[in-house]
Amino acid sequence: MSVVSAPGKMILLGEHAVVFGKPAIAMGIDLRLTCTVRKGRQNTVNGQPLNERQHAYVAAAIRDHWPGGPLDITIDSEFPSGSGLGSSAALTVALLGAMSQMGGGIDEESVARAAFDVESTVQGRASPLDTSVSSHGQGIFVDSAPGKDLLWHIRRDSRQWYVHHCPVPDLTFVVGFTGIRAPTGPLVAKVKRYVDRTRFAKEVVDEIGDITVEGAKRLRDRDVVALGGLMTRDHNLLAILGVSSPELQRLVDAAIPFSYGAKLTGAGGGGSMIALTDRPEKVAGAIARRGGVPYIVRTGVDGVRAEDSPR
Ligand code: PMV
Repeated sequence: MSVVSAPGKMILLGEHAVVFGKPAIAMGIDLRLTCTVRKGRQNTVNGQPLNERQHAYVAAAIRDHWPGGPLDITIDSEFPSGSGLGSSAALTVALLGAMSQMGGGIDEESVARAAFDVESTVQGRASPLDTSVSSHGQGIFVDSAPGKDLLWHIRRDSRQWYVHHCPVPDLTFVVGFTGIRAPTGPLVAKVKRYVDRTRFAKEVVDEIGDITVEGAKRLRDRDVVALGGLMTRDHNLLAILGVSSPELQRLVDAAIPFSYGAKLTGAGGGGSMIALTDRPEKVAGAIARRGGVPYIVRTGVDGVRAEDSPR
């Protein structure tokens, strides 16, 4: 038997601009998904026979990355799927980690590469942001060129990403889930149309890139005031690109009075926002009063890891 967990994630800065080769920062959060894997008589997920449509990530991981016999898989998650917190990546990473553990040991980079492969197969056009940060934990800085602290370089079709380690202090954030599940693909396509057509949108993307580079420095210095300010600026630029929504804006506005800064996280359109704060209870209350689902989370967490206490 093998029990392996992997963290959910949030994008701190750089979403959407990363699609145009700008850098992005993603961080692991202390909400984890755990996979318990045993040899079985047939492939099962949470006691039910594996259904390829319902469990597309599990099916692809087994088909492409598991040479052994049938597996009995139990999934336990501390956070909901579809909230923009990277549940499909955490599931894929934890499962591949458990498979590696059964074969002798977990290698973070191999898990990250295999997990990106699975997400690409299932989603069509994934970026390795979620799978890399869930494998590595802490934080990652993804760029179109190599730099200091390079972890791995991933290529797919004509695209490539240099994934770097980004040191992350233990910070408190509040995540506010709008309750709306917005698919990433159409939002990415909308921004692309805007950027292809106007110089203005290109400049907004450039500015998001500059904010992200600055944010990495502030994060290293633990300068929460400056970092929060950059987050709010980034949110305003994302709103100009058209990926915020009235629900996200409501939650960002509710959080700002008690936060260093707040912004949507991930693709937008719905999904979640994040606020950097030292008054998490106040922010969580304000988010809940405006109809959001708050999660108080901490950063600076482990990536994929074996859990030694069998459950
Ligand atoms: O929806 P999420 O949290 O997986 O984030 C998508 C991030 C984008 O930059 C919008 C797209 C991408 O593939 O990087």
